[in-house]
Amino acid sequence: MATESRTPSQAPALRRDRQLDMYRRALNTLPGGTNSNFRAWGEDTVYIDRGKGGRIWDQDQNEFIDLRMGYGPVILGHADDRVDDYVNEQMRRGVSFSLTSEDEVRAMELVKELTGWVEMARMTVSGTEATMHAMRIARAFTGRNKIVKFEGQYHGVHDYALISVAPDDMSELGDADKPVRLAWGRGIPDAVADTIIPARYNDLDLLRRLFEEHGHDIAAVIVEPVLGNAQGIMPQEGFHAAMRAMTEEFGILLIFDEVKTGFRLAKGGAAEFFGIKPDLGTFAKAMGNGYPAAAFGGRREVMDVLPDKVSHGGTYAGNRVASAAAVRTLEILRDTDALETIHATGRRVQDGLREVLNPTGIPYLFTGHPSMFGIMFTDEVPTEYRDWAKSDHELYDAVALGMLARGAMPEPDSREPWFLCEAHAQGDTVDQIVTIFEESLHAALEGRAHGEVAEHRHGAMSHPAAG
Ligand SMILES: Cc1ncc(COP(=O)(O)O)c(C=O)c1O
Repeated sequence: MATESRTPSQAPALRRDRQLDMYRRALNTLPGGTNSNFRAWGEDTVYIDRGKGGRIWDQDQNEFIDLRMGYGPVILGHADDRVDDYVNEQMRRGVSFSLTSEDEVRAMELVKELTGWVEMARMTVSGTEATMHAMRIARAFTGRNKIVKFEGQYHGVHDYALISVAPDDMSELGDADKPVRLAWGRGIPDAVADTIIPARYNDLDLLRRLFEEHGHDIAAVIVEPVLGNAQGIMPQEGFHAAMRAMTEEFGILLIFDEVKTGFRLAKGGAAEFFGIKPDLGTFAKAMGNGYPAAAFGGRREVMDVLPDKVSHGGTYAGNRVASAAAVRTLEILRDTDALETIHATGRRVQDGLREVLNPTGIPYLFTGHPSMFGIMFTDEVPTEYRDWAKSDHELYDAVALGMLARGAMPEPDSREPWFLCEAHAQGDTVDQIVTIFEESLHAALEGRAHGEVAEHRHGAMSHPAAG
Protein backbone atom coordinates (compact mmCIF):
# COMPACT_ATOMS: atom_id res chain seq x y z
CA MET A 1 0.00 0.00 0.00
CA ALA A 2 2.85 2.39 0.78
CA THR A 3 5.06 3.83 -1.92
CA GLU A 4 8.61 5.13 -1.55
CA SER A 5 7.98 8.57 -2.94
CA ARG A 6 4.60 10.00 -3.66
CA THR A 7 2.72 13.22 -3.84
CA PRO A 8 0.10 13.29 -1.13
CA SER A 9 -3.34 14.06 -2.43
CA GLN A 10 -4.62 17.47 -1.53
CA ALA A 11 -7.06 17.23 1.37
CA PRO A 12 -10.46 18.57 0.36
CA ALA A 13 -11.63 21.47 2.53
CA LEU A 14 -14.35 20.43 4.95
CA ARG A 15 -17.66 22.24 4.77
CA ARG A 16 -17.98 24.30 7.97
CA ASP A 17 -20.71 26.91 7.39
CA ARG A 18 -23.50 25.41 9.49
CA GLN A 19 -21.15 24.39 12.26
CA LEU A 20 -19.60 27.84 12.44
CA ASP A 21 -23.08 29.31 12.77
CA MET A 22 -23.87 26.76 15.46
CA TYR A 23 -20.62 27.55 17.26
CA ARG A 24 -21.41 31.26 17.34
CA ARG A 25 -24.95 30.55 18.51
CA ALA A 26 -23.82 28.08 21.17
CA LEU A 27 -21.24 30.50 22.54
CA ASN A 28 -24.10 32.68 23.78
CA THR A 29 -25.25 29.92 26.09
CA LEU A 30 -22.72 27.12 26.52
CA PRO A 31 -19.25 28.05 27.81
CA GLY A 32 -16.87 27.23 24.97
CA GLY A 33 -19.89 26.33 22.84
CA THR A 34 -20.08 22.76 24.19
CA ASN A 35 -21.02 20.68 27.22
CA SER A 36 -17.49 19.45 27.89
CA ASN A 37 -14.10 21.16 27.94
CA PHE A 38 -12.72 18.22 26.00
CA ARG A 39 -14.89 19.03 22.97
CA ALA A 40 -14.25 22.77 22.97
CA TRP A 41 -12.08 23.15 19.87
CA GLY A 42 -12.79 26.82 19.19
CA GLU A 43 -13.96 27.48 15.65
CA ASP A 44 -13.15 23.86 14.76
CA THR A 45 -15.65 22.54 17.31
CA VAL A 46 -17.58 19.71 15.68
CA TYR A 47 -21.38 19.73 15.84
CA ILE A 48 -22.79 16.31 15.13
CA ASP A 49 -25.79 15.32 13.07
CA ARG A 50 -25.79 11.52 13.26
CA GLY A 51 -23.85 8.29 13.30
CA LYS A 52 -24.37 4.78 11.96
CA GLY A 53 -22.01 1.87 12.53
CA GLY A 54 -18.44 3.10 12.37
CA ARG A 55 -19.31 6.36 10.61
CA ILE A 56 -20.54 9.80 11.65
CA TRP A 57 -21.84 12.89 9.85
CA ASP A 58 -21.42 16.43 11.14
CA GLN A 59 -24.00 19.15 10.65
CA ASP A 60 -22.43 20.17 7.37
CA GLN A 61 -22.83 16.55 6.21
CA ASN A 62 -19.10 15.84 6.13
CA GLU A 63 -18.76 12.08 6.58
CA PHE A 64 -16.06 10.54 8.76
CA ILE A 65 -14.93 7.10 9.77
CA ASP A 66 -15.16 7.54 13.53
CA LEU A 67 -12.05 6.50 15.45
CA ARG A 68 -13.06 8.27 18.66
CA MET A 69 -16.32 6.38 19.14
CA GLY A 70 -17.38 8.91 21.78
CA TYR A 71 -14.10 8.32 23.73
CA GLY A 72 -14.69 4.60 23.69
CA PRO A 73 -18.20 3.61 24.69
CA VAL A 74 -19.61 2.75 21.29
CA ILE A 75 -18.28 -0.80 21.16
CA LEU A 76 -20.73 -2.24 18.62
CA GLY A 77 -21.29 0.79 16.40
CA HIS A 78 -23.43 3.93 16.38
CA ALA A 79 -27.21 3.48 16.38
CA ASP A 80 -26.98 -0.29 16.70
CA ASP A 81 -30.48 -1.64 16.02
CA ARG A 82 -30.08 -4.62 18.36
CA VAL A 83 -29.50 -2.30 21.33
CA ASP A 84 -31.70 0.59 20.25
CA ASP A 85 -34.78 -1.56 19.57
CA TYR A 86 -34.66 -3.05 23.05
CA VAL A 87 -34.03 0.34 24.68
CA ASN A 88 -36.95 1.78 22.71
CA GLU A 89 -39.24 -1.02 23.77
CA GLN A 90 -38.35 -0.62 27.44
CA MET A 91 -38.33 3.18 27.35
CA ARG A 92 -41.95 3.29 26.25
CA ARG A 93 -42.94 1.71 29.56
CA GLY A 94 -41.77 4.79 31.49
CA VAL A 95 -38.22 5.80 32.29
CA SER A 96 -37.88 7.10 35.84
CA PHE A 97 -39.54 5.60 38.88
CA SER A 98 -36.78 5.61 41.48
CA LEU A 99 -37.91 2.03 41.90
CA THR A 100 -35.94 -0.98 40.76
CA SER A 101 -36.64 -2.74 37.45
CA GLU A 102 -35.70 -6.26 36.38
CA ASP A 103 -33.20 -4.95 33.83
CA GLU A 104 -31.18 -3.37 36.63
CA VAL A 105 -30.85 -6.74 38.28
CA ARG A 106 -30.09 -8.44 34.96
CA ALA A 107 -27.47 -5.84 34.07
CA MET A 108 -25.55 -6.39 37.31
CA GLU A 109 -25.93 -10.18 36.93
CA LEU A 110 -24.30 -9.82 33.52
CA VAL A 111 -21.45 -7.71 34.95
CA LYS A 112 -20.92 -10.48 37.50
CA GLU A 113 -21.05 -13.22 34.86
CA LEU A 114 -18.77 -11.52 32.34
CA THR A 115 -16.12 -10.36 34.80
CA GLY A 116 -16.17 -13.57 36.80
CA TRP A 117 -14.75 -11.78 39.86
CA VAL A 118 -17.30 -9.07 40.70
CA GLU A 119 -19.67 -10.46 43.33
CA MET A 120 -21.85 -7.41 44.05
CA ALA A 121 -22.35 -4.30 41.93
CA ARG A 122 -24.42 -1.15 41.70
CA MET A 123 -25.23 1.08 38.75
CA THR A 124 -24.37 4.73 38.34
CA VAL A 125 -24.90 7.05 35.39
CA SER A 126 -21.28 7.94 34.64
CA GLY A 127 -17.77 6.61 35.08
CA THR A 128 -17.10 9.64 37.27
CA GLU A 129 -19.72 8.53 39.78
CA ALA A 130 -18.44 4.97 39.64
CA THR A 131 -14.86 5.90 40.57
CA MET A 132 -16.05 8.39 43.19
CA HIS A 133 -18.10 5.71 44.94
CA ALA A 134 -15.42 3.05 44.63
CA MET A 135 -12.97 5.39 46.36
CA ARG A 136 -15.50 6.16 49.10
CA ILE A 137 -16.20 2.48 49.66
CA ALA A 138 -12.49 1.75 49.90
CA ARG A 139 -12.09 4.48 52.51
CA ALA A 140 -15.09 3.21 54.46
CA PHE A 141 -14.00 -0.44 54.34
CA THR A 142 -10.41 0.19 55.43
CA GLY A 143 -11.04 3.15 57.74
CA ARG A 144 -8.18 4.95 55.94
CA ASN A 145 -8.31 8.24 54.05
CA LYS A 146 -5.78 8.29 51.23
CA ILE A 147 -5.90 6.97 47.70
CA VAL A 148 -2.90 6.34 45.47
CA LYS A 149 -3.44 7.36 41.86
CA PHE A 150 -1.07 7.19 38.92
CA GLU A 151 0.06 10.24 36.98
CA GLY A 152 -1.62 10.66 33.63
CA GLN A 153 -4.55 8.46 34.57
CA TYR A 154 -8.06 9.83 34.14
CA HIS A 155 -10.81 8.69 36.47
CA GLY A 156 -13.45 11.31 35.67
CA VAL A 157 -14.27 14.82 36.79
CA HIS A 158 -14.88 14.60 40.53
CA ASP A 159 -12.46 16.47 42.78
CA TYR A 160 -10.62 13.35 43.97
CA ALA A 161 -9.88 12.27 40.41
CA LEU A 162 -8.57 15.52 38.98
CA ILE A 163 -5.06 15.25 40.38
CA SER A 164 -1.97 14.87 38.16
CA VAL A 165 -4.00 14.02 35.10
CA ALA A 166 -2.83 15.51 31.82
CA PRO A 167 -0.30 18.33 31.87
CA ASP A 168 1.55 19.12 28.64
CA ASP A 169 4.60 20.17 30.63
CA MET A 170 5.92 17.24 32.64
CA SER A 171 7.92 19.46 34.99
CA GLU A 172 4.61 20.37 36.64
CA LEU A 173 4.42 16.81 37.97
CA GLY A 174 7.47 17.36 40.16
CA ASP A 175 10.62 15.24 40.52
CA ALA A 176 10.38 11.70 39.25
CA ASP A 177 11.29 10.52 42.77
CA LYS A 178 8.81 12.78 44.49
CA PRO A 179 5.75 13.43 42.30
CA VAL A 180 3.60 16.36 43.42
CA ARG A 181 -0.19 16.65 43.48
CA LEU A 182 -1.17 18.74 40.50
CA ALA A 183 -4.80 19.83 40.54
CA TRP A 184 -6.41 20.12 37.08
CA GLY A 185 -7.80 23.63 37.13
CA ARG A 186 -9.09 25.71 39.98
CA GLY A 187 -11.81 24.88 42.50
CA ILE A 188 -10.37 21.66 43.93
CA PRO A 189 -9.99 22.11 47.68
CA ASP A 190 -6.48 21.48 49.02
CA ALA A 191 -8.02 19.26 51.68
CA VAL A 192 -9.36 16.97 48.95
CA ALA A 193 -6.16 17.04 46.88
CA ASP A 194 -4.19 16.16 50.01
CA THR A 195 -5.97 12.80 50.19
CA ILE A 196 -4.50 11.76 46.84
CA ILE A 197 -0.97 10.39 46.59
CA PRO A 198 0.41 10.49 43.04
CA ALA A 199 2.49 7.55 41.85
CA ARG A 200 4.05 6.64 38.49
CA TYR A 201 2.65 3.88 36.32
CA ASN A 202 4.97 0.87 36.09
CA ASP A 203 7.20 2.17 38.90
CA LEU A 204 6.99 -0.49 41.61
CA ASP A 205 9.92 0.91 43.64
CA LEU A 206 8.18 4.24 44.08
CA LEU A 207 4.93 2.47 44.92
CA ARG A 208 6.63 0.43 47.65
CA ARG A 209 8.25 3.55 49.05
CA LEU A 210 4.86 5.29 49.18
CA PHE A 211 3.30 2.27 50.87
CA GLU A 212 6.12 2.14 53.42
CA GLU A 213 5.76 5.85 54.21
CA HIS A 214 1.96 6.18 54.16
CA GLY A 215 0.62 2.60 54.07
CA HIS A 216 -1.22 2.90 57.38
CA ASP A 217 -3.29 5.71 55.86
CA ILE A 218 -3.79 4.36 52.31
CA ALA A 219 -7.22 2.92 51.59
CA ALA A 220 -6.71 1.98 47.96
CA VAL A 221 -4.73 2.21 44.78
CA ILE A 222 -6.88 3.14 41.81
CA VAL A 223 -5.45 2.20 38.44
CA GLU A 224 -6.48 2.28 34.82
CA PRO A 225 -5.02 -1.15 34.01
CA VAL A 226 -3.92 0.27 30.66
CA LEU A 227 -2.89 3.94 30.66
CA GLY A 228 -5.84 4.92 28.49
CA ASN A 229 -5.22 8.62 28.82
CA ALA A 230 -1.74 8.27 27.33
CA GLN A 231 -2.22 6.24 24.18
CA GLY A 232 -2.98 3.07 26.10
CA ILE A 233 0.53 2.55 27.51
CA MET A 234 0.66 -1.05 28.69
CA PRO A 235 1.82 -2.41 32.02
CA GLN A 236 5.25 -3.99 32.05
CA GLU A 237 5.39 -7.74 32.52
CA GLY A 238 4.32 -8.55 36.06
CA PHE A 239 3.37 -4.98 37.08
CA HIS A 240 -0.22 -5.74 37.97
CA ALA A 241 0.62 -9.01 39.72
CA ALA A 242 3.30 -7.29 41.80
CA MET A 243 0.93 -4.44 42.63
CA ARG A 244 -1.74 -6.96 43.62
CA ALA A 245 0.71 -8.71 45.95
CA MET A 246 1.96 -5.44 47.42
CA THR A 247 -1.53 -4.07 48.08
CA GLU A 248 -2.40 -7.30 49.92
CA GLU A 249 0.82 -7.07 51.94
CA PHE A 250 -0.16 -3.58 53.18
CA GLY A 251 -3.90 -4.21 53.57
CA ILE A 252 -4.65 -1.75 50.76
CA LEU A 253 -7.52 -2.30 48.32
CA LEU A 254 -6.92 -2.47 44.58
CA ILE A 255 -9.45 -0.66 42.38
CA PHE A 256 -9.31 -1.46 38.66
CA ASP A 257 -10.84 1.46 36.79
CA GLU A 258 -12.16 -0.49 33.81
CA VAL A 259 -14.20 2.37 32.39
CA LYS A 260 -12.21 2.16 29.14
CA THR A 261 -10.95 -1.44 29.26
CA GLY A 262 -14.04 -3.18 30.63
CA PHE A 263 -15.89 -5.46 28.17
CA ARG A 264 -13.35 -4.35 25.52
CA LEU A 265 -9.98 -6.02 26.15
CA ALA A 266 -11.83 -9.24 26.94
CA LYS A 267 -15.34 -10.15 28.06
CA GLY A 268 -13.96 -9.87 31.59
CA GLY A 269 -12.05 -6.68 30.77
CA ALA A 270 -8.48 -5.97 31.83
CA ALA A 271 -8.81 -8.09 34.97
CA GLU A 272 -9.33 -11.15 32.77
CA PHE A 273 -6.77 -9.99 30.19
CA PHE A 274 -4.02 -9.58 32.80
CA GLY A 275 -5.23 -12.37 35.09
CA ILE A 276 -5.74 -10.15 38.16
CA LYS A 277 -8.46 -10.17 40.82
CA PRO A 278 -8.90 -6.64 42.12
CA ASP A 279 -11.05 -5.78 45.15
CA LEU A 280 -13.19 -3.21 43.38
CA GLY A 281 -13.81 -2.31 39.76
CA THR A 282 -15.49 0.52 37.89
CA PHE A 283 -17.26 0.10 34.57
CA ALA A 284 -18.99 2.36 32.03
CA LYS A 285 -18.43 3.06 28.33
CA ALA A 286 -18.59 -0.30 26.51
CA MET A 287 -21.17 -1.68 28.92
CA GLY A 288 -23.93 0.42 27.33
CA ASN A 289 -22.79 0.99 23.72
CA GLY A 290 -22.92 4.73 24.33
CA TYR A 291 -25.94 5.00 26.61
CA PRO A 292 -25.11 6.44 30.04
CA ALA A 293 -24.69 3.13 31.86
CA ALA A 294 -22.00 2.69 34.48
CA ALA A 295 -21.34 0.61 37.57
CA PHE A 296 -18.99 -0.11 40.41
CA GLY A 297 -18.64 -3.47 42.07
CA GLY A 298 -16.33 -5.93 43.70
CA ARG A 299 -15.82 -8.45 46.41
CA ARG A 300 -18.93 -9.08 48.51
CA GLU A 301 -17.06 -8.44 51.76
CA VAL A 302 -16.04 -4.96 50.56
CA MET A 303 -19.36 -4.09 48.92
CA ASP A 304 -21.10 -5.10 52.14
CA VAL A 305 -20.51 -1.58 53.48
CA LEU A 306 -23.60 -0.85 51.32
CA PRO A 307 -26.37 -0.13 52.00
CA ASP A 308 -25.97 0.64 55.71
CA LYS A 309 -22.57 2.24 56.20
CA VAL A 310 -21.85 4.17 53.01
CA SER A 311 -23.95 6.60 51.06
CA HIS A 312 -24.77 5.78 47.46
CA GLY A 313 -27.84 6.90 45.56
CA GLY A 314 -28.94 8.73 42.48
CA THR A 315 -32.25 9.59 40.88
CA TYR A 316 -31.02 8.16 37.59
CA ALA A 317 -28.89 5.30 38.96
CA GLY A 318 -30.09 2.21 37.09
CA ASN A 319 -32.56 4.21 35.01
CA ARG A 320 -34.63 2.36 32.44
CA VAL A 321 -32.72 3.49 29.36
CA ALA A 322 -29.26 2.78 30.77
CA SER A 323 -30.14 -0.58 32.26
CA ALA A 324 -31.88 -1.75 29.06
CA ALA A 325 -28.83 -0.67 27.03
CA ALA A 326 -26.50 -2.47 29.44
CA VAL A 327 -28.53 -5.67 29.35
CA ARG A 328 -28.66 -5.88 25.58
CA THR A 329 -25.04 -4.72 24.99
CA LEU A 330 -23.61 -7.14 27.55
CA GLU A 331 -25.73 -9.99 26.17
CA ILE A 332 -24.38 -9.29 22.68
CA LEU A 333 -20.80 -9.17 23.96
CA ARG A 334 -21.39 -12.42 25.87
CA ASP A 335 -23.20 -14.34 23.13
CA THR A 336 -21.49 -13.26 19.90
CA ASP A 337 -17.93 -13.00 18.64
CA ALA A 338 -18.14 -9.17 18.56
CA LEU A 339 -14.98 -8.76 20.64
CA GLU A 340 -12.97 -11.17 18.47
CA THR A 341 -14.13 -9.17 15.44
CA ILE A 342 -13.06 -5.89 17.04
CA HIS A 343 -9.66 -7.25 18.06
CA ALA A 344 -9.07 -8.72 14.58
CA THR A 345 -10.10 -5.43 12.96
CA GLY A 346 -7.66 -3.52 15.17
CA ARG A 347 -4.87 -5.89 14.14
CA ARG A 348 -5.78 -5.45 10.45
CA VAL A 349 -5.60 -1.66 10.81
CA GLN A 350 -2.23 -1.95 12.57
CA ASP A 351 -0.90 -4.24 9.81
CA GLY A 352 -1.92 -1.66 7.20
CA LEU A 353 -0.32 1.18 9.14
CA ARG A 354 2.90 -0.82 9.46
CA GLU A 355 3.01 -1.16 5.67
CA VAL A 356 2.71 2.61 5.41
CA LEU A 357 5.14 3.47 8.18
CA ASN A 358 7.94 0.95 7.75
CA PRO A 359 9.25 2.30 4.41
CA THR A 360 9.42 5.84 5.82
CA GLY A 361 12.01 4.95 8.45
CA ILE A 362 10.14 7.05 11.01
CA PRO A 363 10.53 5.54 14.48
CA TYR A 364 7.12 4.48 15.77
CA LEU A 365 5.41 1.94 17.92
CA PHE A 366 1.87 0.93 18.71
CA THR A 367 0.78 1.29 22.30
CA GLY A 368 -2.21 -0.35 23.92
CA HIS A 369 -4.44 -3.15 22.75
CA PRO A 370 -5.63 -3.56 19.13
CA SER A 371 -9.14 -2.50 20.20
CA MET A 372 -7.83 0.79 21.66
CA PHE A 373 -4.35 1.62 20.45
CA GLY A 374 -2.08 4.60 20.07
CA ILE A 375 0.60 5.42 17.51
CA MET A 376 3.66 6.90 19.15
CA PHE A 377 6.39 8.36 17.02
CA THR A 378 9.35 7.24 19.11
CA ASP A 379 11.69 4.28 19.37
CA GLU A 380 11.67 4.26 23.16
CA VAL A 381 9.02 1.98 24.64
CA PRO A 382 6.94 4.22 26.92
CA THR A 383 6.22 3.00 30.43
CA GLU A 384 4.46 5.96 32.02
CA TYR A 385 2.70 9.26 31.30
CA ARG A 386 5.90 11.34 31.37
CA ASP A 387 7.19 9.36 28.37
CA TRP A 388 4.49 10.83 26.13
CA ALA A 389 6.47 14.10 26.10
CA LYS A 390 9.46 12.30 24.55
CA SER A 391 7.48 11.22 21.49
CA ASP A 392 7.06 13.30 18.34
CA HIS A 393 3.45 14.15 19.17
CA GLU A 394 3.52 17.19 16.93
CA LEU A 395 3.84 14.85 13.96
CA TYR A 396 0.92 12.82 15.30
CA ASP A 397 -1.21 15.96 15.69
CA ALA A 398 -0.48 16.93 12.07
CA VAL A 399 -1.41 13.45 10.84
CA ALA A 400 -4.60 13.38 12.91
CA LEU A 401 -5.72 16.77 11.59
CA GLY A 402 -4.91 15.59 8.06
CA MET A 403 -7.05 12.50 8.62
CA LEU A 404 -9.91 14.69 9.76
CA ALA A 405 -9.71 16.67 6.54
CA ARG A 406 -9.71 13.40 4.54
CA GLY A 407 -12.69 11.75 6.24
CA ALA A 408 -11.49 9.86 9.31
CA MET A 409 -11.71 11.21 12.83
CA PRO A 410 -9.22 10.12 15.45
CA GLU A 411 -8.92 12.48 18.44
CA PRO A 412 -6.51 15.18 17.30
CA ASP A 413 -4.45 14.65 20.46
CA SER A 414 -2.03 11.77 20.49
CA ARG A 415 -2.85 10.96 24.12
CA GLU A 416 -6.23 9.57 23.16
CA PRO A 417 -6.11 6.12 21.55
CA TRP A 418 -8.04 5.07 18.47
CA PHE A 419 -11.14 3.13 19.41
CA LEU A 420 -12.40 0.30 17.23
CA CYS A 421 -15.97 -0.96 17.18
CA GLU A 422 -17.58 -4.07 15.71
CA ALA A 423 -18.97 -2.12 12.73
CA HIS A 424 -15.49 -1.05 11.59
CA ALA A 425 -15.10 -4.59 10.24
CA GLN A 426 -17.72 -3.87 7.58
CA GLY A 427 -17.03 -3.08 3.92
CA ASP A 428 -13.71 -1.49 3.05
CA THR A 429 -13.49 0.64 6.19
CA VAL A 430 -10.11 -0.78 7.24
CA ASP A 431 -8.55 -0.07 3.83
CA GLN A 432 -10.00 3.42 3.86
CA ILE A 433 -8.53 4.14 7.30
CA VAL A 434 -5.11 3.00 6.10
CA THR A 435 -5.26 5.03 2.87
CA ILE A 436 -6.39 8.13 4.73
CA PHE A 437 -3.58 7.65 7.24
CA GLU A 438 -1.05 7.18 4.44
CA GLU A 439 -2.07 10.37 2.64
CA SER A 440 -2.16 12.32 5.87
CA LEU A 441 1.25 11.09 6.99
CA HIS A 442 2.88 12.03 3.69
CA ALA A 443 1.17 15.42 3.71
CA ALA A 444 2.35 16.01 7.29
CA LEU A 445 5.92 15.08 6.41
CA GLU A 446 5.83 17.34 3.39
CA GLY A 447 4.37 20.15 5.52
CA ARG A 448 7.13 19.65 8.05
CA ALA A 449 9.75 19.80 5.30
CA HIS A 450 8.29 23.22 4.46
CA GLY A 451 8.46 24.32 8.10
CA GLU A 452 4.76 24.03 8.91
CA VAL A 453 3.87 23.41 12.56
CA ALA A 454 0.74 21.44 13.37
CA GLU A 455 -1.95 23.05 15.42
CA HIS A 456 -2.34 21.32 18.79
CA ARG A 457 -5.99 20.78 19.58
CA HIS A 458 -6.68 19.43 23.03
CA GLY A 459 -9.87 20.95 24.30
CA ALA A 460 -10.26 24.15 26.24
CA MET A 461 -8.33 23.05 29.30
CA SER A 462 -5.34 21.24 27.91
CA HIS A 463 -3.17 22.92 30.47
CA PRO A 464 -3.96 22.36 34.11
CA ALA A 465 -2.54 25.68 35.19
CA ALA A 466 -4.66 27.54 32.66
CA GLY A 467 -6.44 30.33 34.45
C1 LIG B 1 -10.63 5.31 32.83
C2 LIG B 1 -11.75 6.28 33.00
N1 LIG B 1 -12.35 6.41 34.20
C3 LIG B 1 -13.37 7.25 34.39
C4 LIG B 1 -13.86 8.03 33.36
C5 LIG B 1 -15.01 8.96 33.59
O1 LIG B 1 -16.12 8.49 32.96
P1 LIG B 1 -17.34 9.50 32.57
O2 LIG B 1 -16.83 10.36 31.48
O3 LIG B 1 -18.45 8.58 32.18
O4 LIG B 1 -17.66 10.26 33.81
C6 LIG B 1 -13.26 7.93 32.09
C7 LIG B 1 -13.77 8.75 30.98
O5 LIG B 1 -13.16 8.87 29.94
C8 LIG B 1 -12.18 7.03 31.90
O6 LIG B 1 -11.59 6.91 30.72
